[in-house]
Amino acid sequence: MVELTLPKNSRITEGKTWPRAPKSTHLTEFKVYRWNPDDDANPKIDTYYVDRDDCGPMVLDALIWIKNNIDPTLAFRRSCREGVCGSCAMNIDGTNTLACTKAIDDNKAPVKIYPLPHQPVVKDLVPDLKNFYAQYASIEPWLHTTTATPEKEWKQSHTDRAKLDGMYECILCACCSTSCPSYWWNSDRYLGPAALLQANRWVQDSRDEATGERLDNLEDPFRLYRCHTIMNCSKACPKGLNPAKEIATLKKALVDRQL
Ligand code: SF4
Ligand code: SF4
Ligand code: FES
Repeated sequence: MVELTLPKNSRITEGKTWPRAPKSTHLTEFKVYRWNPDDDANPKIDTYYVDRDDCGPMVLDALIWIKNNIDPTLAFRRSCREGVCGSCAMNIDGTNTLACTKAIDDNKAPVKIYPLPHQPVVKDLVPDLKNFYAQYASIEPWLHTTTATPEKEWKQSHTDRAKLDGMYECILCACCSTSCPSYWWNSDRYLGPAALLQANRWVQDSRDEATGERLDNLEDPFRLYRCHTIMNCSKACPKGLNPAKEIATLKKALVDRQL
């Protein structure tokens, strides 16, 4: 039966408003999702005021400033701070994106920050991406070959290499998959745009010799065909990639091999 109201323990409540830094004149307000698995309380939204004269320009700078200056218990992931590792993906002002490449001034104040949607939460802004990574592993993202390994390297022409453009740049941040309505409802069976873009990256690789098996693995009403071309994924990708196009290429490859 369809449940029309959220369970009581998932309703978000008003959190704490943390004191403003004394003497600062250039403050920006942030409203940040907080949830701690250890305190048995509902999620809440805490309010922080960040001193912009003492903080870098990006949303990740603000979160680090909050952690260093106001509240050391705030949890979030980050590593490279330049849009390369994908670990700081979160929902900022209603859009899934990377906190390290999103400028604070590109958002309306108060800046609202939530974890990536429709994933279990480990703590605060840290989503549980176990299923996402298992799906990535399921497409076997490495070269499969049957011919003898060459003495030096598997060669590829410049033209064949260029076929991987638009896919090899994916940093597996999960912004696309967690913005996809089909993935929200069927993430247990639908692979989602990130894993499918990666699947196509190996299908298109001229050196790979398992194209047939890779396509067999995708020929399923859920794993691939739950994509209904809604295009949220392509809109969300902070690296400017187009997972919906790569999914369409996979669907075409499945049709072409029947002809
Ligand atoms: S195009 Fe497909 S993968 Fe992308 S958001 Fe839509 S349903 Fe999801
Ligand atoms: S396609 Fe874009 S949004 Fe999706 S995981 Fe890769 S980099 Fe992130
Ligand atoms: S910290 Fe690596 S992508 Fe943001």
